[in-house]
This record gives sequence, C-alpha cells and structure tokens, in this order.
Amino acid sequence: STIYRQGVLGRRPAVPADFAELERRARRASSTRAWAYVAGGAGEGRTMRRNREAFDRWAIVPRMASGAVDRDLTVELLGARHAAPLLLAPVGAGALMGTDSDVKIARAAAATGTAYVFSNQGCNPMEDCAAAMGDAARWFQLYWSKDEQLVDSLIARAEAIGAGALVVTLDTTVLGWRPQDLNLGSLPFSRGQGIAQYTSDPRFRDIAAERAGQPSPKPEVTLGAIRTLIAMTRNHPGRFWDNLRSPLPRASVETFLDIYSNPGLSWDHLATLRDRTRLPVVLKGILHPDDARRAFDLGADAVVVSNHGGRQVDNAVASLDALVSVREAVGPDATVLLDSGIRTGADVFTALALGANAVLLGRPYMYGLALAGQSGVEDVIRNVIAELDLTMALTGTRDIAAITRDLLVPAV
Ligand code: FNR
Repeated sequence: STIYRQGVLGRRPAVPADFAELERRARRASSTRAWAYVAGGAGEGRTMRRNREAFDRWAIVPRMASGAVDRDLTVELLGARHAAPLLLAPVGAGALMGTDSDVKIARAAAATGTAYVFSNQGCNPMEDCAAAMGDAARWFQLYWSKDEQLVDSLIARAEAIGAGALVVTLDTTVLGWRPQDLNLGSLPFSRGQGIAQYTSDPRFRDIAAERAGQPSPKPEVTLGAIRTLIAMTRNHPGRFWDNLRSPLPRASVETFLDIYSNPGLSWDHLATLRDRTRLPVVLKGILHPDDARRAFDLGADAVVVSNHGGRQVDNAVASLDALVSVREAVGPDATVLLDSGIRTGADVFTALALGANAVLLGRPYMYGLALAGQSGVEDVIRNVIAELDLTMALTGTRDIAAITRDLLVPAV
C-alpha cells in the first residue's frame, strides 16, 4: 500500500508499473543484439506465448469482508525464511542490459530481501555478487560441465560464498534454436559476456591454459600474466588482433564453449550430487511429471518447473500447465518452484494457487535493470510483491498457505 499511496500522491517511479510499458521502454533502451538475446525465445516463439496464455486460462475469484488487514507474505524454502515467495531467476549475460549487471542485481535483491540465484553464465564472479549482498540470501545455478573437476570447483565456490542452495539447470545441455540470435550472427559469449564465473575459476583457468599449451595465467595482472597472455595469443595465428580487441583471451571463450555443458548429462551424473555437496539441491527445468518424481527419488530437495522462459524448445508445454501435473505427481509436501511467464503479482498468486511454493522472475527484472540500474530492479521486485499483497487483501488470504486452488476457476 506504500507504493500505491506514493503513486497516487505523485511519486514518479523509476520504471513503469505495468509489464507492457516496462517491456516497451526496455526495448527502446537496448541495442538490437541485446534485445534479441534477452527478450528472444526459441523457434517461432510459441512456448513463450503459451507461458502467458496459460495464466489467462485461470481466473482468480476474490473473496469479501475477510478482515485481513495485515498479510504475511513470508515463506520457508529449504530451511530458510524468505520475505516473499519470489526469487530472482539466474540470468546469464546480464551485461547486455547494463554494466556491472550482476552486482547491481545483487544489491537490489539484498535491498528488497529477495533471494538472487547467481547464474553460472553471470557477468560478475559469484564472490563479488555475494560481497555486495551482506547476509542476504543467494543461491548458485550450475550448468553441468563436461569437466567433472570444474563441477566440483564451482560447487566448492558456491559453498564458500554461503549459497542457500545449488540449482542445477537441466534444460540447456545444448542451446535451443534461437532464430533472433542466429539471424544477427552473434551470441554474447563470443564477446566474453557471460563467462565471468569461468574465467574467475582456478580449475577453468588451468584447463584454458593447458589447451593453449601454457602454464595457468595468474589472476593478477602481472607482467608475467601479460607475457603469458601474449604467448597464448601467438599460439592462435591470425587471432592476435582479435585478442587485443577482446576483453579476454580467445582461448578462454573457446574453452568455455567447449566445456560449459555436458550434452551427455544423465540421471547417473545427478545421482552423484548428494555426495558432492552439503547444499540443498534444486533441479531446474523440469516439465514432465516422471522427471519430477525421479528428481525427488534421487534426493533432490526441490525442483523448478520451467521451460527456461520459452528459450529452449519451441511449442513446448506451458510452465504453468506443467506445474499442475508435476504437483499432482509429487504430492503436497515436495518443494516445487515455478518460473517462465511470471509478469505480475496476480501471476504469482495464480502459480501459488496451482501448487507452487514460490516463483522465480526472469526477464522483468532485467528490463528494470536496463531502464534504471539497481533501483529499476528494486522497483520491479517491489511492484510484483505489492500487487501480490493487494491481491491477497482482496481475496481474503492472510498468508501464503491460504492461497489455494479453490480461489481459481477456469477462465471462459
Ligand atoms: C535465462 N535463463 C537462465 N537459466 C539458467 O538456469 N541459467 C542461465 O544462465 C540463464 N540465462 C538466461 C538468460 C536470459 C537472457 C534469460 C531471459 C533467461 C532462464 C531463467 O532462469 C528463467 O528460467 C526464465 O527467464 C524465466 O522466464 P521469464 O520470467 O523470463 O519469462
């Protein structure tokens, strides 16, 4: 109600309060290339559209005179209390939407009490993001590398920065078919965006150096490191000038492209997780009820029902529709999160009513970043939470547990 009051009293917010205008303005503020990558989806864009249409097929039924003056939006997830059932999804290559992207997002997350899932393809090392957050909740998202030692190294770093969970994303063993990016002929990674977690990793640096036939360069910019760098570039005839222009040695980018994911990822790999970390394990990208069952059988602590914001498989099932069958399959007590298509507080309400314990927000907060940096991200988060709070007031739900299926009907 504070936000509403400020709005009525004439405070001009950093970002538009509705998603359509937020998106329009973010698009105007972005380069064609950045917009293609961040806003784009797989194939014909059907999954992305369907994610939204799924919300339109449900209607909320308000309840009157409940006397619910104060609402409690907190939820417990994996043993920790969260201010609201909302987290920031891992988003790679954020530098496309603003410099020092992940550190700014980390600060906004801490300022609003929202957990931030650091992307394995982030643009700032996870240690820098964690340092910007104080004690606020952070999780780490892992892409399973072809190099098992790199997997362990990233897990060890996540533990060291106090991550509240290890989120393993399963749906991107290969990159989806993304015509917008293909037509422009460029991906952010080719310019070194999105590989900061790798270039800051000791194991990764060893691999990159070994492949270039050189000893591992030191992280500090010493004369020796510069010499090594120059020596490394000499091993790639014709690429010398590329390397001078590129912020990173070409060898790092190529190593990244070769090993960041393991297309052969199987449940056998995932079965080793329980012995490799003491962190709660969350499997992200689940859409089939059998996969959800399997995840919990394996000892996962939670799953994220997600189609990666419609970026991987075109014409895939809507995330919200998959949520219903996943919840049915795993029973009421399993922790099930959802993302893909959340735009408003009413969407959060709908997802919770259909069985999600909490949701993750993706593109909307990136658009806030594009428009107004840290405060833009904060405003987007606060707006979604404020609308959820008002929706709770108007449906007589005093706390998150009270948001149940009987408050929805199929929309006609
Ligand atoms: C993503 N997503 C993602 N997921 C992940 O596990 N690791 C990652 O590095 C990324 N990178 C990424 C980049 C960009 C630009 C986008 C838009 C998305 C997927 C993300 O975590 C989440 O699943 C979706 O963004 C949720 O959908 P909405 O909210 O964007 O519709």
